[in-house]
Amino acid sequence: MVDFIERYGPWALVTGAGNGLGAEYARQLAARALNVVIVDVDTAGLDAVAAELRGAFGVEIRTVTVDLTQADFMTPILAATSGLDVGLVINNAGISGLGLFQHKPLADHLAVVDVNVRAPLMLTHHFVPQLVQRGRGGLLFVSSLSALQGTAHVANYAATKAWNLIFAEGLWEELRDTGVDVLGYLVGSTRTPGFVGSRPKLDKARMVTVMEMSDTVRGALDGLGNGPVQVAGRGNAWSAALLSRLLPRKWAVRLVSATTRAMYG
Ligand SMILES: NC(=O)c1ccc[n+]([C@@H]2O[C@H](COP(=O)([O-])OP(=O)(O)OC[C@H]3O[C@@H](n4cnc5c(N)ncnc54)[C@H](OP(=O)(O)O)[C@@H]3O)[C@@H](O)[C@H]2O)c1
Repeated sequence: MVDFIERYGPWALVTGAGNGLGAEYARQLAARALNVVIVDVDTAGLDAVAAELRGAFGVEIRTVTVDLTQADFMTPILAATSGLDVGLVINNAGISGLGLFQHKPLADHLAVVDVNVRAPLMLTHHFVPQLVQRGRGGLLFVSSLSALQGTAHVANYAATKAWNLIFAEGLWEELRDTGVDVLGYLVGSTRTPGFVGSRPKLDKARMVTVMEMSDTVRGALDGLGNGPVQVAGRGNAWSAALLSRLLPRKWAVRLVSATTRAMYG
């Protein structure tokens, strides 16, 4: 625990933390005695998480309500983190834009790129110099198993998650000797409000195992120093090996697309 605070504390920043995995990252960081800046578009969600964590763990929590699709989303984040020693940045916020590509307006696709790519890119560009100057810290990019191959019904989302994976790998190599850990974390289906709200037909997708938020997040925080890439959970690690190493690429695309279609089609 002391090592974790020294390396990644005293402050962490988590995006998409008003709900779901982001709230769970904040919860587990607070349990490890870190103060957390939590960022989300959902003010009520942020306030509820902040009240819970301050009460349960006695840490400091700062909330930033901001829409990450907005051009100036960095402004309130810079104001909230000014003067703070931020040692860990968790790029968790993500939207999926589920549906056939051609049926969605361009604006929806661009919002997916803004939240899933532009926001982590800009946050990373801001925080890397100060992390390197500290000589210790971490950057986490919450990616997905869908980063491993193209997938029908989430074609744009899967591509943005591949960006997070590849970006994390390159940064991991660039920052390897600086004391800054970088991890691209491949998450599989996890029981979050967003996942449950998408109403997946799990009985029709036998290959899918659904993880609990606490396990998914613990795997990431425990694995921060084991970059460049980790997969959440043993079952998902097997799936990832099958999809990325054993199957011809065409089959991987078709298999995962068929599963997605069965769950959401
Ligand atoms: N859950 C899974 O099965 C799964 C699988 C693979 C990867 N992942 C990845 O894990 C991450 C978290 O997923 P999750 O399931 O926890 O998502 P979630 O339950 O939908 O929560 C995402 C949070 O991000 C917020 N958010 C959405 N758009 C935003 C914006 N424009 N600006 C600021 N905040 C915004 C949401 O606020 P609102 O609620 O107000 O929209 C919500 O609080 C994502 O990157 C996702 O791609 C999840």
